[in-house]
Amino acid sequence: KDLVFSGMQPTHTLHLGNYLGAMVNWVRMQDTHECMYCVVDMHAITVAQDPKALRGNIREVTAAYIACGIDPKRSILFNQSQVPQHAELAWIFNCIARMGWLNRMTQFKEKAGKDRENASVGLFAYPALMAADILVYRATHVPVGEDQKQHLELTRDIAQKFNNDFAEEIAAGGHGEAFFPLPEPMIQGPATRVMSLRDGSKKMSKSDPSDYSRINLTDTSDTIAQKVRKAKTDPEPLPTETAGLAARPEADNLVGIYAALSGVEREAVLAEFGGANFSTFKGALVDLAVDRLAPITDEMRRLTADPGHIDAILAEGAEKASAMAEVTMKAVKEIVGFVAR
Ligand code: TYM
Repeated sequence: KDLVFSGMQPTHTLHLGNYLGAMVNWVRMQDTHECMYCVVDMHAITVAQDPKALRGNIREVTAAYIACGIDPKRSILFNQSQVPQHAELAWIFNCIARMGWLNRMTQFKEKAGKDRENASVGLFAYPALMAADILVYRATHVPVGEDQKQHLELTRDIAQKFNNDFAEEIAAGGHGEAFFPLPEPMIQGPATRVMSLRDGSKKMSKSDPSDYSRINLTDTSDTIAQKVRKAKTDPEPLPTETAGLAARPEADNLVGIYAALSGVEREAVLAEFGGANFSTFKGALVDLAVDRLAPITDEMRRLTADPGHIDAILAEGAEKASAMAEVTMKAVKEIVGFVAR
């Protein structure tokens, strides 16, 4: 049976990349699928976090999920650390995944930087925990942005190796040929890789030191307007066809953002704005972005004013999630040969 799972790290306020690359697809999938959306706080601590700030960010990201349209009545919304089975399965996956597989992860190389000896073991093992997040529910579809593709390939490798290594026990336990599904990455829409507003060759990211590089879901309308107006562009007017965006990363990025915000493809945006100069296009982009984001920002503010309400939603989600996770863990422990209590 199809099950959607995805998550975001509560390390910073969500930005437009998170929203357009993942969240809009999460919201849409609720109409067609059973969905679970997780705030991955255990992933957040793979790099040092201030505990007070972390606590606030977990609640703020939960509020952002709801404000963007994740409905806790339809989807299971919870945070990772409240469901201990994630960590339990992650340990087993640490023993399935190979050092060589993890050594190839580009996100680890980027985040660890030059001082790799000083990176946390958790940062290295990060993808095994991510695999556990997904597979502890035996989820089948994972909506994410482009940058998570490699992690999802690793998730499939772990699932496959587990299924192979324990094929006999899996069959004997009546689980058929494969215990874990090989989850499908769903990388969809015109903005699967939103770039920095300051540099079309860099991904929009929460770790960029310049706040002008990204639009945050908490930005005011004035800030959004300023950031869009200052966004880097080239001097040419917009092309009339998408082929004309090929060597123009900044133009391509802004057109992609406009397309994703209005729910159309790049072609439709260029049909409207092809030949226009950037000041006209940026004006329209500001209006569109403010129109789409202001209601979310307002709703986030309303929700974060009542942390008790957010905590209650998380608790309810965690209860549902752990009941599901426990079924998997019971079978996994039997499959690997542990003795039940
Ligand atoms: P994270 O927290 O970095 O990002 C959350 C989601 O936002 C997407 N994203 C982007 N999409 C387009 N353009 C961008 N500039 C951009 N920046 C971020 C990411 O692709 C992601 O979908 N490892 C994950 C969190 C995670 C997870 C999981 C995801 C942990 N366990 C299980 C799916 C399933 C991460 O760090 O995402």
